Amino acid sequence: MTKKYLAKESHLDNLGLRAGEYALITGGSQGLGRAFAEVLARHAINLILVALPASGLAEAALSLSRQYDVQTRYIETDLAADGGVEAVARIITQEKLPVSVLINNAGTSYNCRFEDSTIDENEACILLNTLAVVKMTHFLLPYLKQCHRAYILNVSSMAAFFPMPYMPVYAPTKAFILNFSLALRQELNHTPVRVSVLCPNGIRTCRRSTDKIKAFGWIGRLTSMEADDVADYTIQKMLEGQAVIIPGIINRAIRLVGHYAPQAWVYAVVSALYSRTARGGKAKIAPLSSVTGE
Ligand SMILES: NC(=O)c1ccc[n+]([C@@H]2O[C@H](COP(=O)([O-])OP(=O)(O)OC[C@H]3O[C@@H](n4cnc5c(N)ncnc54)[C@H](OP(=O)(O)O)[C@@H]3O)[C@@H](O)[C@H]2O)c1
Repeated sequence: MTKKYLAKESHLDNLGLRAGEYALITGGSQGLGRAFAEVLARHAINLILVALPASGLAEAALSLSRQYDVQTRYIETDLAADGGVEAVARIITQEKLPVSVLINNAGTSYNCRFEDSTIDENEACILLNTLAVVKMTHFLLPYLKQCHRAYILNVSSMAAFFPMPYMPVYAPTKAFILNFSLALRQELNHTPVRVSVLCPNGIRTCRRSTDKIKAFGWIGRLTSMEADDVADYTIQKMLEGQAVIIPGIINRAIRLVGHYAPQAWVYAVVSALYSRTARGGKAKIAPLSSVTGE
């Protein structure tokens, strides 16, 4: 056994994990999922990355494996399609891959009036953001429970805390993830599995996200973060067993203000911000009276 391997093993032991175990990350080809993969690889944790076919997943897995000397596997599948999660389950079962960390990160959204959205967009958003998470967690849970220590990290959003005009389906899917995670955490209280849920504000990942953050002006600059910083902070908090993880002190303050401020004001502010970036140009902003229903 090499010196390097021994060092890895003692590091993993400190985290309660065992050498040879894997972290499964959905949406691991780019953005926040890729950043999670980097952080975990730095912790000497092997990786199973899942994303859509032809997304550069193979290259991402190879480069992480070379850079950090960890085992990496990748599975190309559409998690929103029938049989997508089952394909992942089949490979993990057949190859007997020991998974001790599950990160349900893949997600999708649109930003426009509900009436301008398509049924396909809404269906993809609901299936990927919620059903795929439920299925993946249900499949892996028996294996996770057999580990010495295991972690589930579900990626929600600050959108989970508020109804979001111009993202009317995305926000409820993220509220589902928040509540699902907290309920599961309670159920698994006396098992080796710790459940955390991440609720980030804007993250500078894909072009769509960065354009949206730019359009929010100074608020966007103040509240958004780089994917690497979000991933670093989140993995640290996940390993500490924190329930709800909100990266950025300003975002934690916004969460508090949003909780205690009159809800009509909260909806109006969210509406004003997200109408700026809505597909199809600047939408009309509803006056406060129509928001409160007066
Ligand atoms: N960016 C933000 O501002 C922000 C803020 C709050 C919360 N979040 C949440 O953070 C998570 C990651 O966001 P991100 O900005 O990193 O997204 P992203 O850059 O668009 O990456 C999404 C990842 O999910 C994968 N994916 C998308 N649809 C899939 C499907 N049907 N089946 C399998 N994999 C699929 C993508 O794979 P391909 O490479 O194959 O497309 C990609 O790896 C999401 O859950 C999002 O809701 C993001």
